[in-house]
Amino acid sequence: LPNDLLSLEHYQEEISDFHIHIHNTVSSTNEIAKNLALKGAPHNSVIIADSQTSGKGRFRRVWISPPGVNIYMSLCIKPSSDARVSLVPLATSVAVMDALCRVAPEIKGRIWLKWPNDIYLDEKKLSGILVENLKRDIIVGIGVNVNISSNRFPEDLREKATSLYIATGRQFRRAEIIVEILYNLREIYKILSENSYYIIQLWSERSKTLNSMIKAYLPDRTIEGKAIGLDENGFMKVITADGKMVTLSSADILHLR
Ligand code: BTN
Repeated sequence: LPNDLLSLEHYQEEISDFHIHIHNTVSSTNEIAKNLALKGAPHNSVIIADSQTSGKGRFRRVWISPPGVNIYMSLCIKPSSDARVSLVPLATSVAVMDALCRVAPEIKGRIWLKWPNDIYLDEKKLSGILVENLKRDIIVGIGVNVNISSNRFPEDLREKATSLYIATGRQFRRAEIIVEILYNLREIYKILSENSYYIIQLWSERSKTLNSMIKAYLPDRTIEGKAIGLDENGFMKVITADGKMVTLSSADILHLR
């Protein structure tokens, strides 16, 4: 394993409440986490890989997962019954965004959240989150483009994707970022269980989607309108041109100018 990932071992104390498994190559850390969960893995199990052979994104997209450069991790959590499961994606994106600002303060002001849980830097995607619900477990998959240079992205992605390295010209130690992320996740999931409304507020402060004109691609149609706010589930309320209010629980959205 590359040193910048292996050095996670040095942080054992800070993250001793997480059960961490590090792999060289896996199909998808979400798949490994799912299998572990089915076998009874404890709350806060974490799968980390240096590369993935079938990294997946939302809507069955491929998540580019070459070795040596990026973070691919999945968390298995068992929320207490009163936690609002639908807010996990929003809460996670807040935690990851703040962790990235911490390690790369120069990106503050350029990094923002797109509903429901994408992390953008300027106009390009920096990090994606894929939350999958099993019966009693939630699998939270997090991908962050860290040290990848733009020529390692497939050509069609170069206009759409970025990395911390591309944005700052600096290389980062992945272990340090992972520890920051885990630290923030611990904090945010606690907030989620105690005061879930606060999650909506934290997310809204970091998002550019609110008050933007958006286009949402739903399975059977697309809608255009103004994103006006989140409901208590984290669903997005949109007012369309003809004045109708639509609530989106999940969708692929585009910000219009
Ligand atoms: C998206 O933006 O569409 C979500 C991308 C999620 C990628 C991460 S990488 C770690 C985990 N394993 C996967 O196969 N996907 C998630």
